[in-house]
Amino acid sequence: MKIKIENKSILDVKADAIVVNLFEGVRHPSGVTGIVDKTYEDVISNFVIKQENFEGKYGEIYMLPLVKENKKIFVVGLGKQENFDLIKIRNLNAKLIRKINACKNIKKVVSILHGAGIMGLCPFACAQMITEGVISGLYDFDKYKSDKKEVNIKEFIIAELDESKFKKAKKGLEQGLIIAQSVNDARDLINESSQYLYPETLADYAVKNSGVKTTVYNKTQIKKMGMNAFLAVGQGSVHEPKLIHMEYIPERKAKRKIAIVGKGITFDSGGLDLKPPSSMLTMRDDMSGAAAVITTMKAISQLKPDVEVHAIVAACENMPSGSSYKPGDVIIAKTGRTIEIDNTDAEGRVTLADALAYAEELGVDEIIDIATLTGACMVALGTVASGIMGNDDNRIKEFIETAKQAGEKFWQLPMDEEYGDSLKSDIADTKNTGGRMGGASTAGIFLSKFVKKTPWIHIDIAGTAFVDKANAEGIKNATGVGVKSLIKYIAG
Ligand code: BES
Ligand code: MG
Ligand code: ZN
Repeated sequence: MKIKIENKSILDVKADAIVVNLFEGVRHPSGVTGIVDKTYEDVISNFVIKQENFEGKYGEIYMLPLVKENKKIFVVGLGKQENFDLIKIRNLNAKLIRKINACKNIKKVVSILHGAGIMGLCPFACAQMITEGVISGLYDFDKYKSDKKEVNIKEFIIAELDESKFKKAKKGLEQGLIIAQSVNDARDLINESSQYLYPETLADYAVKNSGVKTTVYNKTQIKKMGMNAFLAVGQGSVHEPKLIHMEYIPERKAKRKIAIVGKGITFDSGGLDLKPPSSMLTMRDDMSGAAAVITTMKAISQLKPDVEVHAIVAACENMPSGSSYKPGDVIIAKTGRTIEIDNTDAEGRVTLADALAYAEELGVDEIIDIATLTGACMVALGTVASGIMGNDDNRIKEFIETAKQAGEKFWQLPMDEEYGDSLKSDIADTKNTGGRMGGASTAGIFLSKFVKKTPWIHIDIAGTAFVDKANAEGIKNATGVGVKSLIKYIAG
């Protein structure tokens, strides 16, 4: 499907479906919806609103067939004007496009630029959100299904007559395409079976698709770098661990240098501290952080911000076997700090300990890690918000604010020293776990021990990366969470 914007009136674009909108409580449509209403003999005000009681509630969609013209009008409810925002535009379009696609004979759709009319929202952002919604809404992981859902719609056109709005919206559409594609790519990577997606294939993917210079280090090279913590986690698997380093260097002088580090456990069985079956079922998602940083790099390579960006993934598989790392083992991490393995299922933080140390050695101004780290975070925040913490409150606040604009929710969790008390070890500098209570914060404290002085943000997406019920965007299974926020935080 192609998505485009045309500098025309909505009535001058020939299409099988016209999309207009209404705020809640509006009885006499104005703006573009008003024009469409007048053109078709007041059918929206006299029939849809008056007779069919269309109220314009947020998410309400009315399909009106125009039999003579052989086309359909879709009236979408925007809800109360005072509650309306950009995120609603995106989620609404995701819902709408699935509905339109279900009408098999609609090949071409023309839509109003939602939000840029009476609401006066920025046309760039409105077009970006429509694009993100449309592309995201049509996402389906049907690679392994014999019956694939066809995309019947061939063209989706946004019509905007005002030239200055049109110009801004055109750029927003381009930005939306880049972002939505990265999000969908992350979803594909995460949904993929761990049978096919293991450290080597993940690294190959990054080399081919990250859009930036990518270096992959093998086990011998990783050993030489002293990343024993990372290697310990992967040593029970038949798949060799890979360290993936992607770098984007801007053409102009970089305003700042940032490293993004993604947890890349391609399957988390728990290791010798084996997970129960129900907890293991979706553990192919334990590389969601890695997927987020790889696909973020792809977007960065296209958006070209004046920021130097490094993405790091310590990819391995956590498996039980004769060669696995064991509870009670002491490991010397890259920084020299020793870790007593208390539980082999707390493996993500052990790999991140070395990945963070590697990132810090690059001399960046800021490090952000993103990880499906703790079941405790999932229990605390559910599938709605991701956890966020770190050593720099101002940056955390800035990240939360930026993410909000990108339509993703983050909630700061505490990092008081006391959360680290349970990590004390009799035989090493730290244990890798400290029991179940306050587990997300304890994990954060553990990670903080491996970042010496760089401002650092830690994001826990255990609850939001993979969901079994459709979220606000209508997405089930891999959500691609984090991608939109990382792109916005880095590239604006
Ligand atoms: N990958 C899991 C965390 C996770 C849980 C991600 C649920 C997505 C959904 C992580 O490696 C893990 O197993 N953490 C343990 C830590 C515990 C042993 C301290 C957990 O949260 O149970
Ligand atoms: Mg685990
Ligand atoms: Zn894990």
